[in-house]
Amino acid sequence: MGMLGSQKMDYQDSALSAPSGAPADPALAMETGQRYRNPTEVQMSQLVLPSHTNHRGELSIGQLLKWIDTAACLSAERHAGCPCVTASVDDIYFEHTIRQIQIMPPWQQHGKNDVCVGQVVNIKAKVNRAFNSSMEVGIQVSHEDLSTGKQWNVCKAYATFVAQGKATSKMKLKPLAPQTEEEKMEYGIAAERRRMRVAHTETLKNLLTNSTIQTERENGECSTVVPAEKTRVESVELVLPPHANHQGNTFGGQIMAWMENVATIAASRLCHAHPTLKTIEMFHFRGPSQVGDRLLLKAIVNNAFKNSMEVGVCVEAYQQEMEVNRRHINSAFMTFVVLDQEGQPITLPVVKPEAGDGERRYREASARKKIRLDRKYIISCEQTKVPLSVPWDQSNKVYLSYNNVFALKTLVAKTNWVLATETDKVRMYMLEEDKYLSFRIEMTLCIDALQAFSLLSDLRQRHEWDHYYADPYVIAFRSVTLPTCPPNPDYTRGETMCSGFCIWQETTELTKVSYYNQAAPGYLTYVTTNIAGLSSDFYVTFKACERFLQKNKEDIAVGLQNL
Ligand code: COA
Ligand code: ADP
Repeated sequence: MGMLGSQKMDYQDSALSAPSGAPADPALAMETGQRYRNPTEVQMSQLVLPSHTNHRGELSIGQLLKWIDTAACLSAERHAGCPCVTASVDDIYFEHTIRQIQIMPPWQQHGKNDVCVGQVVNIKAKVNRAFNSSMEVGIQVSHEDLSTGKQWNVCKAYATFVAQGKATSKMKLKPLAPQTEEEKMEYGIAAERRRMRVAHTETLKNLLTNSTIQTERENGECSTVVPAEKTRVESVELVLPPHANHQGNTFGGQIMAWMENVATIAASRLCHAHPTLKTIEMFHFRGPSQVGDRLLLKAIVNNAFKNSMEVGVCVEAYQQEMEVNRRHINSAFMTFVVLDQEGQPITLPVVKPEAGDGERRYREASARKKIRLDRKYIISCEQTKVPLSVPWDQSNKVYLSYNNVFALKTLVAKTNWVLATETDKVRMYMLEEDKYLSFRIEMTLCIDALQAFSLLSDLRQRHEWDHYYADPYVIAFRSVTLPTCPPNPDYTRGETMCSGFCIWQETTELTKVSYYNQAAPGYLTYVTTNIAGLSSDFYVTFKACERFLQKNKEDIAVGLQNL
């Protein structure tokens, strides 16, 4: 069963200026011997000081979030040329962060790789894509041991910023012109990430409607039951000038840091031990707050699973004289674990939610956990480690689609393809890498790219609702397993690792259609016999595809006009 992800993308020219002295054109950079630098790129290096750490000597996540938000905002403003605000920050996974950025007293440091005060956190932010008034900024955080020169990746984050150009109307950002293969890839999949953000609420709703979520932990797992009420935290903060950005709005990073603080207190109240933050689920900044506002932060443990708990935090803003008119400005969900001496997660007490909202949040936390795990499993694994078939269900289809497009765009971006064979203008290329062999078949047809896309994907409705894209188009497939597909002893189903079509409009009449495939072991022989010229199956199949497109293009053209 092929799982499909598809998209349309456009690259448009725009005049961008590079940061001082660095060429914004890779070709020019090569000529002058200088390093190419993305014109929106912002680099920030921070020396870790004792004031940046928590009581255990670890770099505080709140501090890291403030740095991330500042670097990302500067990058967004570099592109927009006007003030920008944080609209959201996607999920951040902290697997490699916390313990690596431990600040140890000197007498404990011998023989350890842990980082101590005086080491450096490097943050690199650049705009991946501008949409209308919003843009996606990609942020990479690494950490550097100054004594050895060693660097580690800490985490990757994606934030959306909205340009606040004119007070009266919505700003229209200039499009971004990606230059390098990596930039083009990020540009393409930024659209898929935007789709995931938009789909999240709907996915959660569907999951709660369509599935029975287990509300009781297995008996005997843990005898301690803690009423959720015992973990409740309420805290107020006064927004002062140092908490605000250059427009007088509270820094997104500052709000995130305050939220992390109350969430940590709620988590500690459940387990009476130091909790470790594992994941932050998307922060959504619903509305601004300013200097002089009071922010009321409320947190509670929504659910505790065997080894992890979800803490929810909500933030309301009000002015001194108008406490009754509180504005809900932010909500976020954070997952904590509690580690023992060996660094293993301990079994957590069972949480007893309050009736009403508490019980609803308890069930929603379970649904969010499933979405988080699906998403993490499908997206965060290295591409080569993802198993061939991924179980499909309604709630993970959007992540599978993202993953398909990401895998295909990675394959398309490779530069070491070599022409293996050519028959009657049907060209076959191959790519040998580690233990993988991929191939690509290409032909140029007298057809409109939109007709080809519609015929090959049969997603004719998509154009109507998906107005962010222009050409080229991508149709990406990957195997999924569906429980409704019982195994049949007479039929062996081949699996697809990564495959799909890319369709480029070359002139007004000609379109280039390329089929990519990362060969799975099951049909490797089939591929190699074609590459070696012992069979011409691919040519025959592609010619049949050409006839199919030519035969149906007029019908689809009529259909498209009627859309
Ligand atoms: N995640 C990503 N993008 C989002 C988003 C979210 N949760 N919510 C809105 N957006 C995007 C929209 O897709 C739209 O993008 P586009 O113009 O490129 O198509 C853009 O934001 C504007 O959306 P719109 O519906 O016109 O505006 P809005 O009323 O939803 O306002 C904000 C969006 C972000 C401007 C508004 O919610 C806000 O002011 N939030 C507070 C920002 C803040 O104070 N941040 C912290 C301090 S810097
Ligand atoms: P929801 O109730 O749908 O989860 P909210 O934005 O109202 O969304 O709240 C987000 C989270 O903030 C909740 O899941 C809960 O964990 C926490 N929260 C909300 N209200 C309170 C409160 N009065 N006291 C403590 N925590 C709260």
